[in-house]
Amino acid sequence: MAIKTVGVIGAGTMGNGIAQVFALAGFSVRLVDVAQPMLDRARGSIAKSLGKFVEKGKLAAADRDAAMSRLTTATAIDQLGEADYVVEAIVENAEAKGALFTSLDAIVKREAILASNTSSISITLLGAATKRPDRVLGMHFMNPVPLMPLVEMIRGHATSAESMRIASDLCVTLGKTPIEAADYPGFIANRILMPMINEAIFAVMEGVGTPEAIDAVMKLGMNHPMGPLTLADFIGLDVCLAILDVLHDGFGDPKYRPCPLLRRMVAAGQLGRKSGRGFYTY
Ligand SMILES: NC(=O)c1ccc[n+]([C@@H]2O[C@H](COP(=O)([O-])OP(=O)(O)OC[C@H]3O[C@@H](n4cnc5c(N)ncnc54)[C@H](O)[C@@H]3O)[C@@H](O)[C@H]2O)c1
Repeated sequence: MAIKTVGVIGAGTMGNGIAQVFALAGFSVRLVDVAQPMLDRARGSIAKSLGKFVEKGKLAAADRDAAMSRLTTATAIDQLGEADYVVEAIVENAEAKGALFTSLDAIVKREAILASNTSSISITLLGAATKRPDRVLGMHFMNPVPLMPLVEMIRGHATSAESMRIASDLCVTLGKTPIEAADYPGFIANRILMPMINEAIFAVMEGVGTPEAIDAVMKLGMNHPMGPLTLADFIGLDVCLAILDVLHDGFGDPKYRPCPLLRRMVAAGQLGRKSGRGFYTY
């Protein structure tokens, strides 16, 4: 089956980047979110991001216009009946994603692949919420999607080799590099990244250093391009907490226990960049 129409669900930080790269690669993209303001904002962010590529001479204005014309938005998934491939990028919550996959399964054509951009939730569990677990897989894009080359590809227990091949080929078409990971909590990327971010937050809580000092140590001493607290703000502190909860529950190991300061900041609505306040002010 040739993939022509792609559905992207969730128009937040990740969904709008994912919609952008598919539209730019020539796919007809339907971006769905329950919140109309998020769809309006996503359209604006995509136009702005493509505009920057044009300014830098990396993209022709005509190609930007063509990409924008391939992008449509909707507030309900029943608009995805014709999609050949779907990428889900809603909140990092297993119940919400499971319910969405069950609904999607009833709407999207049988042969279509349903991919999740989840950072940590079991792909096997999402597959089991559908009648097509062989066609459910993880397609974990990195933030910011238009710039980051990696896509971590997660094979659920029942995902077929054919589905993995189709999805990996699709990554290459998008100009990305697919790397496969098994279906364990946090896969490869967040199993390694989140404990570091969590430890940096413990260091703030215990007064080992200020956020600025901790980020500077990791940048200047470890050659990281961005300090862990800047990165946490960039990812979203609510997303970091959700991932750490999945690691903690999934492995049952106290070493993944989310830092109480992180929990408190999320409860206070300090979610990082997207809320204007996190370890830094934006
Ligand atoms: N933020 C990151 O750096 C990052 C990186 C890689 C993967 N991820 C993963 O991507 C997913 C999305 O993360 P995000 O940071 O873009 O979140 P976000 O909070 O920025 O956006 C989530 C969007 O989903 C929408 N939404 C919620 N429930 C919905 C539903 N049932 N149907 C349609 N839309 C719905 C919300 O309105 C919101 O616009 C998560 O699974 C997250 O773990 C995030």
